[in-house]
Amino acid sequence: MSGVRLDGVALGKQIRGEVAEQVVALGITPGLAVVLVGEDPASQVYVRSKGRACEQAGMHSETIRLPATTNQAGLLAAIDRLNADPAIHGMLVQLPLPDHLDTDTVIRRIDPAKDVDGFHPINIGKVVLGDPTGFRPATPYGIQQMLIRSGIETTGAHAVIVGRSTIVGRPMASLLIQNGPGGNATVTTCHSRSKDLGAITRSADILVVAIGRPRCVTAEMVKEGAVVIDVGINRVEDASTERGYRLVGDVDFEAVAPLASAITPVPGGVGPMTIAMLLVNTLQAARAGLRF
Ligand code: GUN
Repeated sequence: MSGVRLDGVALGKQIRGEVAEQVVALGITPGLAVVLVGEDPASQVYVRSKGRACEQAGMHSETIRLPATTNQAGLLAAIDRLNADPAIHGMLVQLPLPDHLDTDTVIRRIDPAKDVDGFHPINIGKVVLGDPTGFRPATPYGIQQMLIRSGIETTGAHAVIVGRSTIVGRPMASLLIQNGPGGNATVTTCHSRSKDLGAITRSADILVVAIGRPRCVTAEMVKEGAVVIDVGINRVEDASTERGYRLVGDVDFEAVAPLASAITPVPGGVGPMTIAMLLVNTLQAARAGLRF
């Protein structure tokens, strides 16, 4: 078996095109604000991409750049201003934050109706309950869309998620067990304390890996014919490249691709889907605002 490459660039572009059409039909301009504290290089790249995608979809984009020395009160005040701004329908604070800031307090300060990352406890609760008014975190939502739009059957499949983060692993489990399209799977969530990880991952029909360790999932850990979704984006040194590094996933792509029925590459797999779904959520926020 040789794996189909699941093309997140093409699928993401398709979804962004659909969003752009719906923005035109909406009659108001959805606005997304992204708050970046400090100068983390990877975060700067992500934030620029989010702003650009927003503008290309006909949305209003604001990036609030705050110095790494910003204190908790300063960051909360910036969030309060965005909560009160009628031109802003969705907002997010790019993570990770500098160590002196308390992420939980910051996330809880965002108006749940504008929390397009879906990280506020209100939205986490709604997603667990299957309430469609909740915002689904963009990465697992993008993975679910990728499965649906690629014709991959989740009903009755054993989906194994490696990693229990609040951004990916936990909401991924919630989405895959729901009763609906891209759901109805039997879900196992593994983490750093799981015993005999390989035995569990080998039983997966759909394997979602989000642990942040380069090429950690090897061919021996994957069943022939499995669908493999690699969420990892890791920089590894590579002197042959101009930048001195290249990006690899959490899965050993070269070894696993020949076994898999479908697999996401890194880059060009899950990443572009995440940005597309952030736009979908911003559109959802703007639409919901029209109803009040
Ligand atoms: N850092 C890595 N992924 C994300 C994300 O989806 N949202 C935010 N706000 N920060 C992140």
